[in-house]
Amino acid sequence: MSDIVIDIADVRKKYRGGVEALRGVSLQVPRGGIFGLLGPNGAGKSTLVKILTSIVRPTRCSGIMLGAPIGDKATLARVGYLPEHARFPEYLKGGEVIRYVAGLTGISRTEAGQKAGQLLEMVGMQDWGKHKMATYSKGMKQRIGLAQALVNDPEIVFLDEPTDGVDPKGRLEMRNLLQRMRDDGRTVFINSHLLGELEMICDSVAIMDKGEIVQQGTIAELTEKSRRYELKTRGTISEELKHKLIAAGAEIEADTMSMVGSDPAPIQPMLDALRAEKITIVELREVRQSLEELFMESVGAAGVGGTQKRSTPPQLPGKELVK
Ligand SMILES: Nc1ncnc2c1ncn2[C@@H]1O[C@H](COP(=O)(O)OP(=O)(O)O)[C@@H](O)[C@H]1O
Ligand SMILES: [Mg+2]
Repeated sequence: MSDIVIDIADVRKKYRGGVEALRGVSLQVPRGGIFGLLGPNGAGKSTLVKILTSIVRPTRCSGIMLGAPIGDKATLARVGYLPEHARFPEYLKGGEVIRYVAGLTGISRTEAGQKAGQLLEMVGMQDWGKHKMATYSKGMKQRIGLAQALVNDPEIVFLDEPTDGVDPKGRLEMRNLLQRMRDDGRTVFINSHLLGELEMICDSVAIMDKGEIVQQGTIAELTEKSRRYELKTRGTISEELKHKLIAAGAEIEADTMSMVGSDPAPIQPMLDALRAEKITIVELREVRQSLEELFMESVGAAGVGGTQKRSTPPQLPGKELVK
């Protein structure tokens, strides 16, 4: 079994009317983790997912998903999908929505009923299955959306902006569910413009802007260069020790010391030396760039492609990336 479930190269999409939504996207998605496709609105995330799920026809596409060429109909039976802004009929009950979608996979009514029961329970909606969608909060509707994406026990689940419009409690529940899906061995592919949100749960990410991937890797890989340890102390450090610490690579500013790098080993003798001088260690923490900063660095400063300056940097109201 390959460790890469999606491997695409140079995927392009030009919509009728001339919008170039994808300008040569190459992407590798590892098996069995949470993969985040991040980028501002209009970056091309939904278009890419719709190409992978055969909803939109690519202008050009080469690559494989689950060992078969993109567009292979039989492979779609091994994939689940929750579209962006998914709407289910308000007059249906949550359980009916799942039963209906389960029925589309060709299983019997009895099996579809059992499946609906299991999935309602999995998404924590067992007490609500007999209530109409119209009575649900946005977060509850999205949980039904997740459940219907799992009816065929998929290997890959595509979730397009699953937490968009969901309140903080609903988002937390959603994150727990996504982790549960990963723990069940599925590959979870999430599209989102909410960078801070993904940072907490994604194993690997690709950052997209204007139809191109600007960065790709695990969060640890992408933030490696910016990693450092920050140490807060209380007490007066002798000049002699200060010099030693600086010589060992520390930067000292008032009561805060920082050491560039992701290796904790060089910090240990420093801690010993500080303690020997009876300095109190108030805090030691690992610091790294956030995905938001990384995104800004990728597209804001250098511009897509790395050379051009971008004329209008994306706006960042709080953690959200909205164009
Ligand atoms: N059906 C369509 N016809 C024409 N243009 C489209 C269509 N769907 C999306 N686009 C355009 O393609 C670009 C990428 O859109 P989309 O894939 O929805 O981005 P994202 O999901 O990252 O917000 C946008 O400029 C959008 O307006
Ligand atoms: Mg979208």
